[in-house]
Amino acid sequence: FEYKNGFPAIRLTHPNGSASVEFLLYGAHVLSWTVNDHELLFVSDQAIFEQGKAIRGGIPIVWPQFGPGPLPQHGFARVKPWRIGKTNTTDNVSIELHLSHDDDTLKIWPHKFNLTLHIRLTEKSFYQELIVDNRDDQTFEFTALFHTYFTVDDIKTTKISGLNNVTYLDKVDGGKTKTETNKIIEFTGETDRVYKDGGKNNNSISINDRIQVIGSNTMPDVVVWNPWQEKAKAAVDIGEHNYPKYVCVEVGHVSNPVQLDKDQTWKGSQELTLLTS
Ligand code: BG6
Repeated sequence: FEYKNGFPAIRLTHPNGSASVEFLLYGAHVLSWTVNDHELLFVSDQAIFEQGKAIRGGIPIVWPQFGPGPLPQHGFARVKPWRIGKTNTTDNVSIELHLSHDDDTLKIWPHKFNLTLHIRLTEKSFYQELIVDNRDDQTFEFTALFHTYFTVDDIKTTKISGLNNVTYLDKVDGGKTKTETNKIIEFTGETDRVYKDGGKNNNSISINDRIQVIGSNTMPDVVVWNPWQEKAKAAVDIGEHNYPKYVCVEVGHVSNPVQLDKDQTWKGSQELTLLTS
Protein backbone atom coordinates (compact mmCIF):
# COMPACT_ATOMS: atom_id res chain seq x y z
CA PHE A 1 0.00 0.00 0.00
CA GLU A 2 1.04 3.61 -0.23
CA TYR A 3 2.39 5.27 2.90
CA LYS A 4 2.90 9.03 3.39
CA ASN A 5 4.34 10.94 0.40
CA GLY A 6 3.83 7.89 -1.84
CA PHE A 7 6.40 5.71 -0.05
CA PRO A 8 5.62 2.09 -1.04
CA ALA A 9 4.80 0.01 2.04
CA ILE A 10 3.94 -3.60 2.82
CA ARG A 11 1.80 -4.97 5.60
CA LEU A 12 2.11 -8.58 6.73
CA THR A 13 -0.62 -10.04 8.91
CA HIS A 14 -0.33 -13.29 10.80
CA PRO A 15 -2.84 -15.89 9.50
CA ASN A 16 -4.70 -15.95 12.82
CA GLY A 17 -4.94 -12.16 12.81
CA SER A 18 -3.08 -11.69 16.10
CA ALA A 19 -0.05 -9.83 14.81
CA SER A 20 1.01 -7.54 12.02
CA VAL A 21 4.03 -5.70 10.77
CA GLU A 22 4.32 -2.77 8.36
CA PHE A 23 7.44 -1.65 6.61
CA LEU A 24 8.60 0.61 3.81
CA LEU A 25 10.82 -0.50 0.95
CA TYR A 26 12.66 2.74 1.68
CA GLY A 27 15.32 1.67 4.16
CA ALA A 28 13.55 -1.69 4.68
CA HIS A 29 12.23 0.43 7.49
CA VAL A 30 9.77 -1.25 9.87
CA LEU A 31 7.19 1.28 11.06
CA SER A 32 4.73 -0.84 12.99
CA TRP A 33 4.61 -4.14 14.86
CA THR A 34 1.35 -4.98 16.58
CA VAL A 35 0.28 -7.92 18.71
CA ASN A 36 -3.40 -8.15 19.67
CA ASP A 37 -3.84 -4.57 18.46
CA HIS A 38 -1.12 -3.20 20.76
CA GLU A 39 1.37 -1.05 18.84
CA LEU A 40 4.82 -1.87 20.16
CA LEU A 41 6.93 0.51 18.09
CA PHE A 42 7.10 4.28 18.27
CA VAL A 43 7.09 6.57 15.22
CA SER A 44 7.32 10.31 15.78
CA ASP A 45 4.38 12.41 14.62
CA GLN A 46 7.09 14.83 13.40
CA ALA A 47 8.86 12.13 11.32
CA ILE A 48 9.99 13.29 7.88
CA PHE A 49 9.20 11.06 4.91
CA GLU A 50 11.50 12.35 2.19
CA GLN A 51 14.02 10.64 -0.08
CA GLY A 52 17.47 10.84 1.46
CA LYS A 53 16.20 11.63 4.97
CA ALA A 54 16.22 9.20 7.89
CA ILE A 55 12.85 8.37 9.44
CA ARG A 56 12.39 9.03 13.16
CA GLY A 57 11.03 5.90 14.77
CA GLY A 58 10.26 2.28 13.95
CA ILE A 59 13.35 0.21 13.18
CA PRO A 60 15.95 1.97 11.03
CA ILE A 61 18.74 -0.28 9.81
CA VAL A 62 22.11 1.13 10.67
CA TRP A 63 24.69 -0.08 8.15
CA PRO A 64 27.61 0.03 7.29
CA GLN A 65 28.47 2.64 9.92
CA PHE A 66 27.07 3.22 13.40
CA GLY A 67 27.05 6.87 14.48
CA PRO A 68 29.14 9.64 12.93
CA GLY A 69 32.15 8.95 10.68
CA PRO A 70 33.24 9.21 7.06
CA LEU A 71 29.78 8.17 5.86
CA PRO A 72 26.53 9.96 6.70
CA GLN A 73 25.40 9.35 10.31
CA HIS A 74 24.39 5.66 10.75
CA GLY A 75 25.40 4.79 7.16
CA PHE A 76 23.20 4.65 4.09
CA ALA A 77 21.07 1.48 4.28
CA ARG A 78 18.31 3.40 6.07
CA VAL A 79 17.93 5.92 3.24
CA LYS A 80 18.05 3.64 0.18
CA PRO A 81 15.17 1.93 -1.63
CA TRP A 82 15.28 -1.87 -1.07
CA ARG A 83 13.78 -4.52 -3.39
CA ILE A 84 11.26 -7.20 -2.48
CA GLY A 85 12.53 -10.78 -2.58
CA LYS A 86 10.96 -14.07 -1.54
CA THR A 87 7.78 -14.14 0.50
CA ASN A 88 6.21 -17.00 2.38
CA THR A 89 2.80 -16.84 3.97
CA THR A 90 2.11 -20.46 4.79
CA ASP A 91 2.68 -20.67 8.52
CA ASN A 92 4.63 -17.82 9.98
CA VAL A 93 4.69 -14.83 7.72
CA SER A 94 8.07 -14.02 6.28
CA ILE A 95 9.59 -11.88 3.57
CA GLU A 96 13.01 -10.93 2.24
CA LEU A 97 14.20 -7.52 1.09
CA HIS A 98 17.41 -6.74 -0.77
CA LEU A 99 19.84 -3.90 -1.25
CA SER A 100 23.00 -3.90 -3.36
CA HIS A 101 25.76 -1.41 -4.06
CA ASP A 102 25.04 1.22 -6.73
CA ASP A 103 26.95 4.15 -8.24
CA ASP A 104 26.05 6.38 -5.29
CA THR A 105 27.10 3.91 -2.59
CA LEU A 106 30.32 3.06 -4.45
CA LYS A 107 31.22 6.76 -4.47
CA ILE A 108 31.07 7.03 -0.68
CA TRP A 109 31.84 3.41 0.28
CA PRO A 110 33.87 1.67 -2.45
CA HIS A 111 32.71 -1.92 -1.84
CA LYS A 112 30.38 -4.30 -3.64
CA PHE A 113 27.79 -5.97 -1.44
CA ASN A 114 24.41 -7.64 -1.27
CA LEU A 115 22.30 -7.05 1.81
CA THR A 116 19.27 -9.14 2.64
CA LEU A 117 16.82 -8.36 5.39
CA HIS A 118 14.73 -11.32 6.40
CA ILE A 119 11.59 -10.49 8.38
CA ARG A 120 9.42 -13.09 10.11
CA LEU A 121 6.28 -12.67 12.15
CA THR A 122 4.89 -15.19 14.62
CA GLU A 123 1.95 -14.80 17.02
CA LYS A 124 3.94 -12.99 19.69
CA SER A 125 7.34 -12.37 18.11
CA PHE A 126 8.96 -10.41 15.39
CA TYR A 127 12.27 -11.60 13.97
CA GLN A 128 14.69 -9.71 11.73
CA GLU A 129 17.90 -10.99 10.24
CA LEU A 130 20.41 -8.91 8.30
CA ILE A 131 22.62 -10.86 5.91
CA VAL A 132 25.69 -9.20 4.43
CA ASP A 133 27.41 -10.73 1.38
CA ASN A 134 30.80 -9.41 0.45
CA ARG A 135 30.75 -9.29 -3.39
CA ASP A 136 33.93 -7.25 -3.51
CA ASP A 137 37.42 -8.46 -4.36
CA GLN A 138 38.74 -7.59 -0.91
CA THR A 139 37.84 -7.67 2.78
CA PHE A 140 35.57 -4.89 4.02
CA GLU A 141 34.56 -3.64 7.44
CA PHE A 142 31.22 -2.50 8.78
CA THR A 143 29.19 -1.95 11.90
CA ALA A 144 25.49 -2.87 11.99
CA LEU A 145 22.56 -2.22 14.29
CA PHE A 146 18.78 -2.48 14.50
CA HIS A 147 17.83 0.95 15.84
CA THR A 148 14.52 -0.05 17.44
CA TYR A 149 12.21 2.59 18.93
CA PHE A 150 9.88 0.94 21.47
CA THR A 151 6.76 2.72 22.58
CA VAL A 152 6.49 3.22 26.37
CA ASP A 153 3.83 4.84 28.58
CA ASP A 154 6.36 7.21 30.09
CA ILE A 155 10.16 7.17 29.92
CA LYS A 156 10.22 8.27 33.59
CA THR A 157 8.64 4.99 34.69
CA THR A 158 10.37 2.80 32.11
CA LYS A 159 12.54 -0.04 33.37
CA ILE A 160 15.10 -1.97 31.38
CA SER A 161 16.51 -5.16 32.83
CA GLY A 162 19.15 -7.64 31.74
CA LEU A 163 22.21 -5.37 31.61
CA ASN A 164 23.46 -5.59 35.19
CA ASN A 165 27.29 -5.83 35.45
CA VAL A 166 27.74 -5.01 31.77
CA THR A 167 30.47 -2.53 30.79
CA TYR A 168 29.20 0.44 28.83
CA LEU A 169 30.38 3.53 27.03
CA ASP A 170 28.54 6.56 28.39
CA LYS A 171 28.17 8.90 25.44
CA VAL A 172 26.57 11.64 27.54
CA ASP A 173 29.48 11.59 30.00
CA GLY A 174 32.35 12.18 27.58
CA GLY A 175 32.52 8.58 26.38
CA LYS A 176 33.62 7.25 29.78
CA THR A 177 33.65 3.51 30.30
CA LYS A 178 31.47 2.45 33.22
CA THR A 179 29.94 -0.71 34.63
CA GLU A 180 26.20 -1.02 35.08
CA THR A 181 25.51 -1.48 38.79
CA ASN A 182 21.71 -1.45 38.56
CA LYS A 183 19.65 -4.56 38.04
CA ILE A 184 17.03 -2.29 36.55
CA ILE A 185 17.91 0.76 34.46
CA GLU A 186 15.65 3.77 34.98
CA PHE A 187 15.71 7.11 33.20
CA THR A 188 16.18 10.54 34.77
CA GLY A 189 17.86 12.42 31.92
CA GLU A 190 19.48 12.11 28.52
CA THR A 191 20.78 8.58 28.10
CA ASP A 192 23.04 7.33 25.32
CA ARG A 193 25.01 4.20 26.15
CA VAL A 194 26.66 1.36 24.31
CA TYR A 195 26.56 -1.78 26.45
CA LYS A 196 29.43 -3.87 25.15
CA ASP A 197 28.46 -7.52 24.74
CA GLY A 198 25.26 -6.73 26.69
CA GLY A 199 23.28 -9.16 24.59
CA LYS A 200 25.93 -11.84 24.22
CA ASN A 201 25.06 -15.53 24.61
CA ASN A 202 21.43 -14.78 23.79
CA ASN A 203 21.10 -12.70 26.95
CA SER A 204 17.60 -11.32 27.01
CA ILE A 205 16.92 -7.66 27.69
CA SER A 206 13.45 -6.67 28.79
CA ILE A 207 11.51 -3.43 28.64
CA ASN A 208 9.04 -3.08 31.50
CA ASP A 209 8.94 -6.90 31.75
CA ARG A 210 6.69 -6.62 28.71
CA ILE A 211 8.91 -6.85 25.67
CA GLN A 212 11.90 -9.14 25.41
CA VAL A 213 14.78 -8.33 23.08
CA ILE A 214 17.26 -11.04 22.12
CA GLY A 215 20.10 -10.47 19.69
CA SER A 216 22.20 -13.08 17.95
CA ASN A 217 25.74 -13.65 19.19
CA THR A 218 26.93 -11.81 16.11
CA MET A 219 25.09 -8.70 17.36
CA PRO A 220 26.33 -8.67 20.95
CA ASP A 221 26.14 -4.95 21.78
CA VAL A 222 23.09 -3.12 23.09
CA VAL A 223 22.58 0.63 22.74
CA VAL A 224 20.12 2.35 25.08
CA TRP A 225 19.07 5.84 24.02
CA ASN A 226 16.62 8.56 24.95
CA PRO A 227 17.39 12.19 24.02
CA TRP A 228 15.36 13.75 26.89
CA GLN A 229 13.62 17.10 26.75
CA GLU A 230 16.15 19.61 25.40
CA LYS A 231 17.54 17.44 22.61
CA ALA A 232 14.06 16.24 21.63
CA LYS A 233 12.94 19.87 21.40
CA ALA A 234 15.98 20.78 19.30
CA ALA A 235 15.46 17.92 16.82
CA VAL A 236 13.04 18.86 14.02
CA ASP A 237 11.61 15.35 13.79
CA ILE A 238 11.21 14.46 17.49
CA GLY A 239 9.62 17.33 19.44
CA GLU A 240 9.53 17.97 23.19
CA HIS A 241 6.21 16.15 23.62
CA ASN A 242 7.60 12.91 22.20
CA TYR A 243 10.67 12.04 24.26
CA PRO A 244 8.63 10.51 27.12
CA LYS A 245 6.88 8.17 24.68
CA TYR A 246 9.75 5.95 23.63
CA VAL A 247 13.00 4.23 24.44
CA CYS A 248 15.51 2.93 21.94
CA VAL A 249 16.98 -0.46 22.76
CA GLU A 250 19.24 -1.30 19.86
CA VAL A 251 20.94 -4.60 19.17
CA GLY A 252 24.08 -4.48 17.05
CA HIS A 253 27.73 -5.12 16.32
CA VAL A 254 29.11 -1.64 16.99
CA SER A 255 31.89 -1.74 19.61
CA ASN A 256 34.29 -2.83 16.91
CA PRO A 257 33.76 -3.47 13.20
CA VAL A 258 32.94 -6.79 11.57
CA GLN A 259 35.70 -7.81 9.13
CA LEU A 260 34.14 -9.65 6.24
CA ASP A 261 36.35 -11.37 3.66
CA LYS A 262 35.44 -11.46 -0.01
CA ASP A 263 32.81 -14.05 -0.95
CA GLN A 264 31.93 -14.44 2.73
CA THR A 265 28.58 -13.91 4.42
CA TRP A 266 27.75 -12.46 7.82
CA LYS A 267 24.39 -12.76 9.57
CA GLY A 268 22.99 -10.83 12.52
CA SER A 269 19.50 -10.98 13.95
CA GLN A 270 17.15 -9.89 16.69
CA GLU A 271 13.97 -11.39 18.06
CA LEU A 272 11.41 -9.19 19.80
CA THR A 273 8.72 -10.91 21.85
CA LEU A 274 5.68 -9.54 23.63
CA LEU A 275 5.68 -11.23 27.06
CA THR A 276 2.45 -9.75 28.41
CA SER A 277 -0.10 -7.41 26.89
C1 BG6 B 1 21.66 6.24 18.74
C2 BG6 B 1 22.97 6.89 19.06
O1 BG6 B 1 21.88 4.94 18.32
O2 BG6 B 1 21.04 6.97 17.69
C3 BG6 B 1 22.74 8.34 19.42
O3 BG6 B 1 23.60 6.18 20.13
C4 BG6 B 1 22.00 9.06 18.31
O4 BG6 B 1 23.99 8.97 19.70
C5 BG6 B 1 20.73 8.30 18.02
O5 BG6 B 1 21.71 10.37 18.71
C6 BG6 B 1 19.88 8.92 16.91
O6 BG6 B 1 20.56 9.04 15.72
P1 BG6 B 1 19.87 9.69 14.47
O7 BG6 B 1 20.91 9.82 13.41
O8 BG6 B 1 18.77 8.77 14.04
O9 BG6 B 1 19.36 11.02 14.93
